[in-house]
This record gives sequence, C-alpha cells and structure tokens, in this order.
Amino acid sequence: MLRVDEQQAPVTFTPELVKQFDDIVSRYPAGKQKSALLPILHLVQAEYGWLSSNAMDKVADYLKIQDIEVYEVATFYSMYFMRPQGKYVLEVCRTGPCGIVGAEKIMDHIEQKLGVKEGEVTADGLFSWRGVECLAACGFGPVLQIGPEYTFYENLTNHSVDQLIADLKVKGNN
Ligand code: FES
Repeated sequence: MLRVDEQQAPVTFTPELVKQFDDIVSRYPAGKQKSALLPILHLVQAEYGWLSSNAMDKVADYLKIQDIEVYEVATFYSMYFMRPQGKYVLEVCRTGPCGIVGAEKIMDHIEQKLGVKEGEVTADGLFSWRGVECLAACGFGPVLQIGPEYTFYENLTNHSVDQLIADLKVKGNN
C-alpha cells in the first residue's frame, strides 16, 4: 500500500525543468498548451522516477488545466508509473506469442530472483518488474524491455535473466 506522504511529498520543478516545459509548449499554437502534456509527463517521470499526485497537480497548474485532465492521461498510458519504481524496471511481455515460449516462467523466475512481487521495489531500490502487453518483438520471445531507453532483451532464459540482473546490479551500484 502506497503511503499518503509518498503521494504528497513536496515537488518543486527546477528552473531547468520548467525551461524544458516552456520549450515543448512553444511548439504548439497559443492556447493549445495541453498538447504538451505527454512529453512533460515524461520529463517529470525522468526527474522523479514516477508521477505522484502532487507532481501531476503541479503539471496541471503549469499547463493551466484541471488536475483530472492530467490524471486521466497519466493513468491511461502504461509507460507512466503511478507508484515508485526501482531504478531498473524489467517489463516482460506476457502476450500470447511470448506466453507460448515461456513468458510466465520468466516472470516467475524474476519474482523469485528479485524477491519482490510484480510492481514492488527491491530493498536496494534497484529493481521492479511487471508484465506488459506485446512489445512488437514477437519472433524473439520471451522478451523484456528496460526503460527509459527501452532496451530490448530477447530469447530470454533463466540464465540470461540472471546475467542481466547481475550486470544491472554492478551498473546500478556504480
Ligand atoms: Fe511478446 Fe509480441 S507477443 S513481443
């Protein structure tokens, strides 16, 4: 369960971040600033790791739109996180073709290896994982991606997952 104080932790957008917002808004006609919502949410998520209600309210204030207009967009798209995530989010395709070649077993293995259930964060803050829908690499399953660059890892086996997690631990702790 997410604590209320996590949702309402203070959020202050830096001048550099606001400048990036301004640059995006300037690409749209006057009065159409709401069109900048998606890329601005990406920037906020890159800054904070997820979108708290407080952060989304501040985006609404910046864009001069209703809070609910931000919530309805942010909760629609799966690339926006509504709760804190690990530094690395392993997103495993769970759609049919990947399912046939073992996606469920890969997710079970990741859960067991990381010791956290889907959507939870490891104690070291490095990892979360979740099942997602088709990643458009159906011929190379099981497959997972890791944002924010959305690097793909294909033809997964328990061994390759172990190696990936080990590599990310080294990278994440440096
Ligand atoms: Fe897994 Fe399409 S079904 S990538």
